[in-house]
Amino acid sequence: MDPREYELMFQVEDRHWWYRGMDAIMRTLLNQRYASGTRLNILDAGCGSGGGISNLLVDYGSVTGVDIEPIALAYCRKRSLSQVARASVIRLPFANAQFDIVASFDVLYERAVPDDLSALCEFMRVLAPGGRLFLRLPAYDWLRGQHDRTTHARKRYARKEVKRLLTQSGFIVERLSFANMFLFPIAALKRLSERLFLAPGARSDLEFNAGPLNGILRTVLTSEAPFIAGAGLPFGLSIVAVGRKI
Ligand SMILES: C[S@@+](CC[C@H](N)C(=O)[O-])C[C@H]1O[C@@H](n2cnc3c(N)ncnc32)[C@H](O)[C@@H]1O
Repeated sequence: MDPREYELMFQVEDRHWWYRGMDAIMRTLLNQRYASGTRLNILDAGCGSGGGISNLLVDYGSVTGVDIEPIALAYCRKRSLSQVARASVIRLPFANAQFDIVASFDVLYERAVPDDLSALCEFMRVLAPGGRLFLRLPAYDWLRGQHDRTTHARKRYARKEVKRLLTQSGFIVERLSFANMFLFPIAALKRLSERLFLAPGARSDLEFNAGPLNGILRTVLTSEAPFIAGAGLPFGLSIVAVGRKI
C-alpha cells in the first residue's frame, strides 16, 4: 500500500464506520462459533496498523500479528501490541497446527501477495485440526477504483473464485457471503463516476470524512451482520468467508 495509507488507516480505524461495521460483522461470525470467554490462539495475517487486533480479535484470546510492511508494525507498536512480527503470508514463520484461528482481512488481494493460493495453503498449515480461517476480500474486479490504487490491489474477487481457492487449499467452506450490500448502489455509482469524471489517479476512500453520517453508515453496515451470519447476502463490495480445517 502507499505509505500514506498506513497512516490514514491508523488514524481512522478505531472510529470509521467501515472498520467498525466490518468488525461487528466479523464479531457476529466469531460469536456464532465460539462461546464467550473462550481463549484461543489467533494469527492476524496481514494485521496492518493493528486495529483488527485491538478492536476485535483480542477479545477471543492471544493474538499474534504479522505484516510484510515495517510501517504497519510500527503503528501496531504504537498501540502497545508487542506480539507482532514481519513476515509474508506466503511464508509464515510458525510451526504446523499452531493456531485455532487465522484472520486475514483485506490482505490477499494486494500485489505484495503474489500467490493467494499459496497464502491459503500456509493458513491451512498453521491451523490446528478444527481451526478456522476468517477471510475478507474486496469483491468484483469491475469495481476497481482510485482507492484500489492506493492499496496496490492486484485484483478484486468473484464469489465463486473465493470458494474455489478455499476448496483447493483444503478448507470446508462454512460461510461465504457478500458484505456491504446496502450501501452498494452508492459505492458502485461513486466508483463508476470516478472513471468518467476524474483524471486517473490514486485517492484513498479513507480521506473522505463522513462527519455526522459516520454513525448512520456504521449502523447500516452493522445491520447486515445477522443476514451474513444467516442465509448470506447476494452481492456487496466485500466477500467474507469462514473456512474450517478438518
Ligand atoms: C488493506 S490492509 C488491511 C490491514 C488489516 N488486515 C485490516 O483489516 O485493517 C492490507 C495489509 O496487508 C499487508 N500485506 C500485504 N501483502 C502482505 C504479505 N505478503 N504478507 C503479509 N502482509 C501483507 C499490508 O502491508 C497491509 O498492512
